[in-house]
Amino acid sequence: MRVLITGVAGFIGSHLAEDALHSGDEVIGVDCFTPFYDRSYKERNAAVLSGRKGFTFLQQDLSEADLGPVLESVETVFHLSAQAGVRSSWGAQFSDYTRHNVTVTQRLLEASKGRGLRKFVYASSSSVYGEPGVYPLVEDMACRPISPYGVTKLAAEHLCMLYHRSYGVPCVALRYFTVYGPRQRPDMAFHRMIRAALDGKPFPLYGDGRQTRDFTFVADAVKATRAAADAPAGEVLNVGGGSRVTMLDVVETLRSIADRPLRIQEEEPQKGDVRHTWADLTRARRHLNYTPSVGLKDGLQAEWAWLKSVPR
Ligand SMILES: NC(=O)c1ccc[n+]([C@@H]2O[C@H](COP(=O)([O-])OP(=O)(O)OC[C@H]3O[C@@H](n4cnc5c(N)ncnc54)[C@H](O)[C@@H]3O)[C@@H](O)[C@H]2O)c1
Repeated sequence: MRVLITGVAGFIGSHLAEDALHSGDEVIGVDCFTPFYDRSYKERNAAVLSGRKGFTFLQQDLSEADLGPVLESVETVFHLSAQAGVRSSWGAQFSDYTRHNVTVTQRLLEASKGRGLRKFVYASSSSVYGEPGVYPLVEDMACRPISPYGVTKLAAEHLCMLYHRSYGVPCVALRYFTVYGPRQRPDMAFHRMIRAALDGKPFPLYGDGRQTRDFTFVADAVKATRAAADAPAGEVLNVGGGSRVTMLDVVETLRSIADRPLRIQEEEPQKGDVRHTWADLTRARRHLNYTPSVGLKDGLQAEWAWLKSVPR
């Protein structure tokens, strides 16, 4: 199968590409190295892929690239490129979010019309839910995001379903719940927590630590994403890690792994951060045959080992 992976130099995209290449797919990977976080991380991710049999890298900005050649002979699109990050989506940077999350998705969908794609898999986010106050989160619930980032991810999800209904583009949207593991973005909590422990600095924990998250190990997210190539078009599916833990639990788990102390510094909760996430996986089980298999301690151990090995 010839697949297009957008955001291939990013955290999840690079793992997805490795997995697809491993099983013999031909991968066209696109990334433009947005400056959202240190480019060296993305270059290392891309370096893992470069030269691999079946891999072609296109350094292009999808908000302006000519998409015809990019989509040439592609069977399945895995659309993971985005401007990520909840906290930085407020204020002046919002235009980056509309450009990379909404405009790029609309352009890709428009260019996908009439191509007979097998599937167009869109990486959505648990942040589309906001705070409904009822858990676990089920796909049919009303979505009221509480961050501008969540608004753009939901807008793009609506675009996918609109192009599916209006033009038959075979879209599936996956709502990832906080993905972690080796290569995790440096703005994300586990990465910052491990980095703080390695540097002997305090970790700023936003809020009282009793907020809960459904954390998903990256290999599980990749497994679900690849399975989505065979899921029924028009579906929106949660992809969670199968357990729900507080941030204080995470701190304790990391303390049991780390060979050095981890100090916590409590900070004010951040605007846009939801209090709880918890995925109902009934639909993912049905349509993706998905059951997460990596628990928090093993996953965190893998991220710790990776970050320890990353040059500064
Ligand atoms: N990591 C998570 O916990 C999480 C949770 C929910 C949803 N998601 C979604 O999963 C996807 C991947 O997330 P990630 O954590 O790997 O993010 P990431 O920032 O590591 O990867 C995204 C990549 O997209 C690239 N990109 C952005 N705009 C582009 C453009 N216009 N043209 C070409 N490339 C562009 C960036 O350079 C980056 O390498 C995103 O869509 C994100 O919204 C991630």
